[in-house]
Amino acid sequence: MRPTDVKRLNRQWRRSTEGRLALIVESVTQPYNLGSILRTCATLGVDRLWLAGNSADPLDPKVGKTALGTAAKVDHVRAGSTAEALSAARADGYRVVALELATGAVPLHVAPLEGDVCLAVGAEDHGCSPALLAGADALTYIPQIGRVGSLNVAVATAIALAEARRREWASSGGETDAPIGK
Ligand SMILES: C[S@@+](CC[C@H](N)C(=O)[O-])C[C@H]1O[C@@H](n2cnc3c(N)ncnc32)[C@H](O)[C@@H]1O
Repeated sequence: MRPTDVKRLNRQWRRSTEGRLALIVESVTQPYNLGSILRTCATLGVDRLWLAGNSADPLDPKVGKTALGTAAKVDHVRAGSTAEALSAARADGYRVVALELATGAVPLHVAPLEGDVCLAVGAEDHGCSPALLAGADALTYIPQIGRVGSLNVAVATAIALAEARRREWASSGGETDAPIGK
């Protein structure tokens, strides 16, 4: 497809999308991971990104290697703490759903992702903090069948954001369901 065709297709999907998505990133320290997360946020229309803990700086040139210019397209704010990020997300009307392989988490395909949802992801080394797990409205995990401990945080973020969008799109149907160009 030509770039203009992709732009037209993206506009069509934007018109079919009402639910608001946001994201809390807690102590994701690797710039390439944050850059990849920012690119996914820009692609899937995340309205706001809260950076909690010691997350990398979106303006770090290494972030730009994977963000490819998309950092400027995502409204991101530095939250003083995880608790502040959680209350800011709630004050903006989001249900906070933290992604973690943790006690009480439900599999992603049955997670409460309808409506305005703020997903939250944790650090590469130790995952979501106890404060984030306790403060979220719900916990969800991406089922794994390989002999692997966890997904890369940027990949987990992309899977969950895409699932949140897929839920709304699957229930609405319409012209967007047709193959491209038909
Ligand atoms: C690399 S993982 C952290 C792994 C860490 N070693 C641990 O044991 O908690 C970083 C983040 O990615 C997300 N993540 C990775 N795999 C996941 C999965 N299968 N389900 C849900 N979240 C996942 C979580 O938000 C997690 O905090």
